[in-house]
Amino acid sequence: MRLCFLVEERYRNDGMPSEVIRQLTAWGHQVDVLWPGSALVQLPETIQAGVHDAWVLKTVSGGPGLTLLEAAAAVGLTTVNDARSIRGVRDKALAAVIARSRGLPMPRTYVVAHPDSLAELPDGEFPLVVKPADGSSGRAVHLVRSPGQLAALNTELAGEGMLIAQSYVPNSGTDLKVYCVRGELFAAERASPLDPHQPRRPQRERRVPLSAEVAGMVTDVGRIYGLDLYGVDVLLGPDGPVIVDVNDFPSFRPVPDAVARVSRAVLELAREGRTTRAAPVPLPLPGPVRIPVQLSVARGEGR
Ligand SMILES: Nc1ncnc2c1ncn2[C@@H]1O[C@H](COP(=O)(O)OP(=O)(O)O)[C@@H](O)[C@H]1O
Ligand SMILES: [Mg+2]
Repeated sequence: MRLCFLVEERYRNDGMPSEVIRQLTAWGHQVDVLWPGSALVQLPETIQAGVHDAWVLKTVSGGPGLTLLEAAAAVGLTTVNDARSIRGVRDKALAAVIARSRGLPMPRTYVVAHPDSLAELPDGEFPLVVKPADGSSGRAVHLVRSPGQLAALNTELAGEGMLIAQSYVPNSGTDLKVYCVRGELFAAERASPLDPHQPRRPQRERRVPLSAEVAGMVTDVGRIYGLDLYGVDVLLGPDGPVIVDVNDFPSFRPVPDAVARVSRAVLELAREGRTTRAAPVPLPLPGPVRIPVQLSVARGEGR
């Protein structure tokens, strides 16, 4: 097979996807690597039908790779993950609307374009978790227990673009991180970065068994968003498991034989050559249709 990997600068020295590229090459496949952060890319010559069997991207928030992956999809090439599904999870506001409209359990969510608008949140909604809509790796994620704590966050959040404020899911201090490699599921636990009892440094993940309930939920996530390689952050709240984050192409660290497994999945997806996905199957809504995301609208002049 002939594959083109888009490798964002941040992953230049990381195990994933570099080791997957090495593995595929060792298996005799031709892998071209494009560094979207530093390459001069001639359009449309670089992205042509018939040259590669599939284009593969491990995304980074706001990175240039996604545009090129979308360009590959636009000329009919197979992409891993499906290029159209990535924005649906990269933008946490969009992810919340998709989840809640399809019956996936995600907390109530508000979206604001500027931290000043968070002041309009009703007092009864606290505690809340405020985070950048295009965040990752726990960047600028805050537990806000009361309206009085918002002002202190204004400076830090001002440069973060769109923000979401989500109902805080009470939990034991542990995230359940579930990984899916083309239908195969693996679960690990890790201390939540919001748990006040944990040190602030990044925590290791430890493999744990996966319940049938969470497995079913994570499988639904793949079908609803259209992802093949993904991870889901789940919290076990008082009313059951709740999804707080979906990541396309995570690092799969706790997955056994992750490099060989992900490499095989990439080859299988490339072989299947899917260029268009069937429309995701909607799950039945849990009750009457509700407005899934409350938009915070600033009360300004002319409104
Ligand atoms: N609504 C929430 N309730 C409780 N904890 C949350 C909530 N949202 C996020 N967290 C905690 O913060 C962590 C980081 O948030 P997440 O949404 O996963 O952002 P990131 O994209 O930075 O990983 C989660 O793994 C979880 O421990
Ligand atoms: Mg997360």
